[in-house]
Amino acid sequence: MTVGIERLAVYVPQYALRLTDLAAARGVPAEKLTAGLGVHEMAIPAPCEDVVTLAATAGARLLRAAAVDPESIGMLLVATETGVDHSKPVSIFVHDLLGIGHRCRVYELKHACYAGTAALMTAADWVRAGGGRSRRALVIAADIARYELGSPGEPTQGAGAVAMLVGPEPRALVLDGQSGTYAGNVHDFWRPLDRREAIVDGKYSIACYLDALTGAFEAYRTLEQPPLGASETLTDRLARVLYHTPFPKMAMKAHRRLVELDWRATPARWQALEDRLDDAAAESYRERVAPGLVAAARVGNTYTASLYLALASLLEDHGRALVGERLGLFSYGSGCCAEFFSGRVAADVGAVADAGVAALLARRTFIDVEGYERLIRAGEAGGDPPRDFTGKFVFAGVRRDRREYARPGAIAA
Ligand code: HMG
Repeated sequence: MTVGIERLAVYVPQYALRLTDLAAARGVPAEKLTAGLGVHEMAIPAPCEDVVTLAATAGARLLRAAAVDPESIGMLLVATETGVDHSKPVSIFVHDLLGIGHRCRVYELKHACYAGTAALMTAADWVRAGGGRSRRALVIAADIARYELGSPGEPTQGAGAVAMLVGPEPRALVLDGQSGTYAGNVHDFWRPLDRREAIVDGKYSIACYLDALTGAFEAYRTLEQPPLGASETLTDRLARVLYHTPFPKMAMKAHRRLVELDWRATPARWQALEDRLDDAAAESYRERVAPGLVAAARVGNTYTASLYLALASLLEDHGRALVGERLGLFSYGSGCCAEFFSGRVAADVGAVADAGVAALLARRTFIDVEGYERLIRAGEAGGDPPRDFTGKFVFAGVRRDRREYARPGAIAA
């Protein structure tokens, strides 16, 4: 049965900080952030936004663009590591704000940045199993990435949400069912229940990411059909490769590892090309990976949404030229769980390629470091939206221990 992503829609907050300004304020060379990490701008939420409003805004943008009746959604999954309650899931607030009907399976998923993929795979299995019965699944990945001010992690923050309609008529990406997974208990990144900012062992997290890529890609490679020819690599069969992107340089390191693994597994290729691995990996990166990193360099880490922001941005910019081509996708969640999987760009992608990425990025407001620190310290204060607000919902605040949400301009006194 054909299953995949029928359409995607993105939301990123309207405030953004230029990394050159952050570098100047922290006394580090700008190139360390713009070239060393590959990040140029990062998105900062307004005080009236939280993960619920980000997720619901992306969901509302998707339902509207796809002209889907909310009542026809039979499963709503929200993936996040920015949960707002130990018990009540983000997804039920989103369900209410989107006006989805009561005949719906609704829950939140957590496994660091991997949860977006866990949700996508669960939704695809549900569609394959006939759970939908002419209904569709709505998967939303949403997060606000936070590290301590002034810490090495600070330039790798970000915020955003990606909503995906998953069903039997994929017009964006047809999932081909081939997937390799990897899991293991590591302490590379975590956020204890009483903390707003993540704890991270940065360099170790990079090593864990690359180990997980190795495990997942090797598992994926063994499933390849038809078998690879004597001098053919799997990378030859992937037109583009998208990675979970905490910062764009991570995708570059990942692709270097992937090319090496792929070549080593193909002795004829390895013998011929071992000496020029670095150059060939860099060339392959420019062609197959860099085109998918445009949004990540301007939004920052969006945790669960990161891989899907890359997909949305790639299809929006290049989807028409990639019709019928196979994409490789690598998802990593600290802690850790990872998956390498693939899909083909659908014939009809031109009609659904606009996920709103370019339009949102074009109308953002850049703030200075003082304004950024004020917003970070204020956190999710709730309340009225700013004048230039681009979201569709606001977090009104907590009353009688309950979180309240409203449309902009409709906050009760
Ligand atoms: P750092 O220690 O500040 O940076 O932290 P660095 O000293 O490693 O430098 C970074 C790069 O800049 C290096 O490049 C330097 O050489 C280069 P590399 O050698 O790695 O290729 N550099 C320069 N380049 C040009 N001009 C210069 C210059 N100076 C230095 N003047 C780190 C960097 C990423 C560790 C930090 O930002 C951090 O801890 N970030 C958060 C953790 C993270 O993003 N980990 C990624 C893998 S884990 C993951 O992806 C999961 C995650 O998304 C969470 C989840 O799953 O939920 C994080």
